[in-house]
Formats: sequence, structure tokens, C-alpha cells
Amino acid sequence: MIQVYREKDYESLSRRAANIISAQVILKPASVLGLATGSTPEGIYRQLVSWYQKNDLSFRQVRTVNLDEYVGMSAQDDNSYRYYMNHHLFSHINIDLQNTRVPNGLATDLQAECTDYDANIRALGGIDLQLLGLGGNGHIGFNEPATAFTKSTHVVDLCESTIEANARFFASAADVPRQALTMGIGSIMKARHVLLVASGDAKANALYRTFCEPVSAQMPGSILQFHPNVTVIADEAALRELDAAGVSIGEG
Ligand code: GLP
Repeated sequence: MIQVYREKDYESLSRRAANIISAQVILKPASVLGLATGSTPEGIYRQLVSWYQKNDLSFRQVRTVNLDEYVGMSAQDDNSYRYYMNHHLFSHINIDLQNTRVPNGLATDLQAECTDYDANIRALGGIDLQLLGLGGNGHIGFNEPATAFTKSTHVVDLCESTIEANARFFASAADVPRQALTMGIGSIMKARHVLLVASGDAKANALYRTFCEPVSAQMPGSILQFHPNVTVIADEAALRELDAAGVSIGEG
């Protein structure tokens, strides 16, 4: 089932998503949260930090697993996703850093890191709530358009369009790593609840193709059409193509 929340702008989208994450943590303090990076979740993390600071929320028992990480990038590099998570969320809340996991892009044996990453997710009992952004090319995590869905955590060659989209965080496109580690489609699909956020015009086409076209590994997020419990939070701009086609994918 897909439930869609239509929000007027980025601010209310962020607050709505933070509310859902916060409800999850209040109802189950030892939740396993699957977390995402990118620009879109920044407002969500800001909101969660502010509720934590007001004593409305505690992350003491929460465990987290992140979707992805660039290969070859250390935690100290401000473009690494470990740095991003510490900077936007973990350093500001009462989470035990031992309970947070981001794939290790510096692992000497990347394959072993992937196997261990999946084993860790299983040992945690799976993911209660998985936050997802959406790439302009339809990727979720770093599961890029492909001929088949990859189930488990794996090393991926990034697409040119992803390198270009993420170049804004780097000095130039040449500095963007060419490879990443990403949680697979299998772990995402096993999450008990998926929360996908999409903001702005640049996501309108990807959002339409993800939910309104036949499921295809060429549009990796489209697999979510088969997930039993998906919440989509999108602003007016991101919903533009769905609106133009007169399609409603489950507004509640
Ligand atoms: C990045 C990340 C994804 C993210 C996506 C969208 O490449 N690997 O996890 O969801 O791109 O990012 P943004 O929210 O900045 O548009």
C-alpha cells in the first residue's frame, strides 16, 4: 500500500517526515532506522535535532544503518556519508555511535564489508523504518538503473548522471568517486515501512516514473510498487508530473 502526503513546500515535507520518524522512535524506542543522505533529508534531521533538544525525543536505544557510502572516502572527508550523518544528526543527539552503521568505503575487502553489512542488518532483526530519497534517474540508495535488481549490499559503478548530480558537493565532477557501496534492493524491500521523500521540480519526472510506470530495474525505485507499506512525502513541485497526468497514487 502506498500512502502519499502532499506538502506545500520543503519545510512542511521535512516536518511531516520527521513526525513519522519521531512516532516510530516513540512507539518503539529500540527501533532500527535505515537512514539516507543527500540534500532532501537535511531538513528532516534538523527537525529531529530540534525535538531532541526540547526533550521530546530520545535516541538512546535507536540503532541505525545507512544506505550507502562512497568507495575510498574516509569518515573525516566532509563528502563522505559518515561525515554527513555525524554532522547533520548523530553529533547532536543522544545516540550511541556504536549503534550507527554506515558502509565502510575504506574497507580493504569491499566484498567482505558488503556481506558483513547484510549480516548486521539481519542480526538487528531487519529495518523498522527506511528513509529514502530519490535520485533524478530513479535510484534509491545508490541502486542505479540496471538490467536486474541487486538484492544484497554491493559495490556499484555510479552513472554519469549521478556523478553530475552529486558534483555540486565537490570541487568538480572529476572529484566525485566513481564507485559506492550500497544497500541492496532486498534489504530495502524487507524494511517494514519505507518512507520516501521527494522535493522540487527536479524530482517530478523520477517520481512519476517510479510509481506510474511498469516496475523495471531501469527505474530502481519502481520496485516499491510491490512493497506493502510505503509512505511518500512529496511537495507540490515534485508531484507536478503526477498531477499533470491526473494520476493519484494514494493520497490520504
Ligand atoms: C544520492 C544518494 C541517495 C539520495 C539521492 C538524492 O546520490 N546516494 O541516497 O537519495 O542521491 O539526493 P538529493 O536528496 O540530494 O536529491
